[in-house]
Parts: sequence; structure tokens; C-alpha cells
Amino acid sequence: MSGKKNGRERQNLPGIAGIGAAVPEHVLTNAELEKLVETSDEWIVSRTGIRERRILEECEDPTKLGVEAARQAIKAAGITPQELDFVITATNLGTMPIPGSSPFIIQELGVGKDIPFFDLLAGCTGFVYSLKVASDLLNSGDYKNILIIGLEALSRFTDWTDRSTCVLFGDAAGAAVISRMPEGRGVISSCLSGDSSQWDVLFMDGGGTKFPASEKTINNKMHYLKMTGGGVFKSAVRMMEDTTERALASAGLGKEEVDWVIPHQANMRILKAFAERCGIPMEKVITNLDRYGNTSTASIPLALTEAVADGRVKKGDLLVLNAFGAGVTYGAVVLRW
Ligand code: UT7
Repeated sequence: MSGKKNGRERQNLPGIAGIGAAVPEHVLTNAELEKLVETSDEWIVSRTGIRERRILEECEDPTKLGVEAARQAIKAAGITPQELDFVITATNLGTMPIPGSSPFIIQELGVGKDIPFFDLLAGCTGFVYSLKVASDLLNSGDYKNILIIGLEALSRFTDWTDRSTCVLFGDAAGAAVISRMPEGRGVISSCLSGDSSQWDVLFMDGGGTKFPASEKTINNKMHYLKMTGGGVFKSAVRMMEDTTERALASAGLGKEEVDWVIPHQANMRILKAFAERCGIPMEKVITNLDRYGNTSTASIPLALTEAVADGRVKKGDLLVLNAFGAGVTYGAVVLRW
């Protein structure tokens, strides 16, 4: 825990009052993937750091992951679902294209009144974007407890014959309740960005308004994620470094004061290269992608939930949450836990 506090920390800032996460029970190992596509455990582990991931069964509704993660976050925040006054679900593809995922989660939680909600589409950066949006909404003075959720059922639009993508992703949900925190805790600064010129490194083109679902889009596999992995890789390290440095500078804090970085879990090599470039020891970077793979918007709250539960992240610690993803979007948030 670092002791120095900057000016902004002397206010009651918006912050994460409670956090939670959920993953499906079914484990898909690298050995099982070896039977599906031409790959090997050795390739996957050495190129990505991933050993296994959790995948929804065909009969399972992804909503239940979001609800489970949200229930944990609400309990940890010490409030009831009825005290929520806004819900944002960050996801790459909603439970239904219309109306998304949020209404289904709200229904199951039993919020019991009309509240505003929307789904947020910002690729894997969705949780970081949602945290910034929720903090600003709270600062407007109109809301007290905002539930943000990262919910992904990536297995539902993964091409299980494409070895370059199917080994990477997993299903999961993570949630956080954003409320005003006691003095000295909460979101100190943030930096969001995006490079729209790189939209084509990661996309799914079928089923939108340009290519509505048709026999042709299905035959051309346009309802699956497509990725130029190398393109994402190259930009990711620079983007994570850039927003981390800018967010820390805006907070008036130095890298040496950071207790933990909780990054989007995309690839162990990306995380190591980022840590090296930033001069942050890898021991301060929380990773769990060996067990869950890349769970997109859910990866940061999932990693943070585990790190809080096992006592690594403690009250007063200075955290950096950073991510990059489809769009290409990227961003970082600096907060005092
Ligand atoms: O959350 C944000 C979204 N995405 C990401 O963050 C992904 C970022 N990118 C990456 O993590 C890496 O680029 C990958 C792990 C996807 C790929 O690693 P790479 O070192 O960039 O490999 P590559 O794409 O350059 O492929 C190297 C070779 C190729 O074979 P050739 O052309 O050299 O003969 C691929 O065909 O590895 C081959 N390959 C595989 N081999 C075995 C690709 N996927 C596999 C596989 N198993 N699963």
C-alpha cells in the first residue's frame, strides 16, 4: 500500500464499492482443443499463456453469469438490488442483438422499479469504459449506486474450426457496484482512447445493418469473430503503456507508486512486454489467463475479484486497470482500492 495521496483523493470519489465474478463450470483444456483443430498445448501455452478456459454449455443462458457476478458485487457493496439506480452492461454481443443484455440481468436481479440501463460496446475495453462512464454519471449527482457488468459468451460466436482464434477465448462475467467512496478511496483519474483506423484487426461483420443475417452471411462464416492477431499484438503494448502513463500523470502519481496493475487478460506475452516497457515488475501485474483465457470485458473484474478474495489487493492499494480491444479502443483507470 502506497502512502502518498494526491489532492483529488481528499474528496469522496466514485469507486468500486463491491465486486464479483462468475464463470461457467465446463472447463475446456488445451488437450481437448488439440482434438478439434491442428494445434498443441505447447503452442498455446508458449504463445499465449493460456492452459484452459471456461465455456458455456449449449443449453446455458449467458444471463445467469451476469446475474451471479452482479449478486456478488451487490452483496459486497452492502446494498440490495433495489438500491441500484443505473445498470451498464459492457459486452461484445448481447444476449439478444435487441435489446442487448441489461434488461435480462435487471429482471433476474429483481430491481423492482424502473431504472435507466444500456449496453456498452467498446470491445474488450468495455469494462474500463463503463467504469469511467459510471464514475462521471455518479459525479453528475443524479445517481448513487451504478451496477457495471462485463458479460461475455464469446464461445457463441467463435469459429471452432479457426485455430488462430478458438484457442484464445473464454466465457465469463464480472460486475462492480460504483458508489461514492469514503475519503481516500475511489477513481482518481482515467484516460480513454481509440484508433478507429484499426477497426479491421478484430471484427464480426455478419448480422449488423451492413450485412444483415442471410444464407450468404452464414455460408461465408460472417457471424464469427475474425482477428489479425499480430496487428492487435503490436498496437496493444503501446496502447496500454500510453493510457497508463497518461492516467497516472493526470493523477499526479508515478509508476513506482502503483501497487497492482489489473490488465485485460489477452496474452501473457503482451502483459510481459507492457510491464517491461513501463518498468513495472511483473509481480505487480495480476494475471489469470492461464485458467480463463481471454474473457474480454469480463477479464478485469474477474481478475480483480480473485485478487481481492485472496488478499493480494488490500484497502488503500493504488490500482491501474487497463485494456485494449476491438474498435480499436483502449484505456486505463487509476483508482485507490
Ligand atoms: O482481447 C483483444 C483481442 N485479441 C488479442 O489480444 C490477441 C492478440 N494477439 C495475440 O495474442 C497473438 O497474435 C496470437 C496468440 C493470436 C498469435 O500469436 P503470434 O505470435 O502473433 O502468431 P502468428 O499469428 O504470427 O502465427 C504464427 C504461426 C502461423 O503459422 P505460419 O504462418 O508461421 O506457418 C499460424 O498459422 O502460428 C500458426 N498458428 C497456430 N499454430 C498452432 C496460429 N494459431 C495457431 C494455433 N496452433 N492455435
